[in-house]
Amino acid sequence: MVSMDGSKDDYLEFMKGAVAAFAPGRIEFLGNHLDYNGGIVLGTAINAGIYGLALPMEGTDFRLFSESFEGAEISGSMQKLEKQTGKQSWANYCLGVLRVLQDRGLAPHHGFSLTLSTDLPMSAGLSSSAAVELATAQCLLQLANKKVSKKELVNICRQAENEWVGLPCGILDQGTSAFGENNQVVRIDCAQKEYSTLPLPANTSLWIFDTGIKHDLVDSHYGTRNKECMDALTILQNSDASIKNLAECPIALLEKTEMANNLTKRARHVVEEQNRVNLFVNGLKNGTSPGELGKFLTESHYSSSHNFENSVPELDFLVDQLSKEEKVWGARLTGGGFGGAVLAWTMDSFSKEEALSIADDYEKEWRQRPSFHSFLPSKGAGSYDPLLRTEQ
Ligand code: GLA
Repeated sequence: MVSMDGSKDDYLEFMKGAVAAFAPGRIEFLGNHLDYNGGIVLGTAINAGIYGLALPMEGTDFRLFSESFEGAEISGSMQKLEKQTGKQSWANYCLGVLRVLQDRGLAPHHGFSLTLSTDLPMSAGLSSSAAVELATAQCLLQLANKKVSKKELVNICRQAENEWVGLPCGILDQGTSAFGENNQVVRIDCAQKEYSTLPLPANTSLWIFDTGIKHDLVDSHYGTRNKECMDALTILQNSDASIKNLAECPIALLEKTEMANNLTKRARHVVEEQNRVNLFVNGLKNGTSPGELGKFLTESHYSSSHNFENSVPELDFLVDQLSKEEKVWGARLTGGGFGGAVLAWTMDSFSKEEALSIADDYEKEWRQRPSFHSFLPSKGAGSYDPLLRTEQ
């Protein structure tokens, strides 16, 4: 460690070989549970995220620190990666990435220490985990002197989450964090793995109201929903083998196919949600007013609540309150659901006072205060020089 009274030269010596990266959190704008169903989803990267700083070390040991989980640092050998439990579980996102990089011949051969810090609210459905993965991957790739395309970066991080963390997620979180642009929404065609961006109407803002209800996807019903969707797809494919994924199933086919009620409801959510995304994208391209476009967001929430059943009463309450506000274009749960946060897409004149009054209403009803934040659609993940803080 460099001593506090050390000279600038000591500091530069200590930082020799250091690399740094940033990966933003994301807001799922529209397209709930469509990604692993081969659909088209919309997300925005936000102006908050995870910062990674890595230093090479001699030997083959690694150390991982996170400012958010003080006292939960871990160290180990790169030759023997082990899954973490309890308060060290945060490190699994980094270890998963390291494992995938090793399997692909992209990991550093020497040891390293990696420190993560963040300005992202945790467990608020803003996908801090994907941001941890992307920040880690970018740091380790730099240490290994390797470069990959953004697409490959997304695939590496998703694979880490699927295989090491054990969550069968799609590419929405990692894709949005990687491909974000200022004032744009990222459009991801999850079947084709194609990414593009579209400008959001000017003078609109994104607000997140976080219920604080724990959003632990691994332990939640996320896996069950994923399985229900796959089961529904298998039944639909018995009638029409040409259907490759649930998001592309025609509504007429769904309506004439018999299956268990829960499967019909999950499939209806997916198929109708895809239609809403398509209508939203066309509307955006044709200059439809935000007032009209916002309705798709609110309809998405009601479909989550009634058909996909991944909402909770607290989220429904927030959406109902927000929908009464004149300056709110649309509101919906964002992310996996079962707790977490609501996105409100608003006029940019929607103020902190108005947000406070929503939080007051919520507190009266639920005896707990939600936190709220406003974000700007922002540029995606990238590396930067740890000393100059310039993008590379
Ligand atoms: C979580 C997952 C994503 C996506 C959303 C729901 O955020 O990590 O891959 O499935 O839920 O749309």
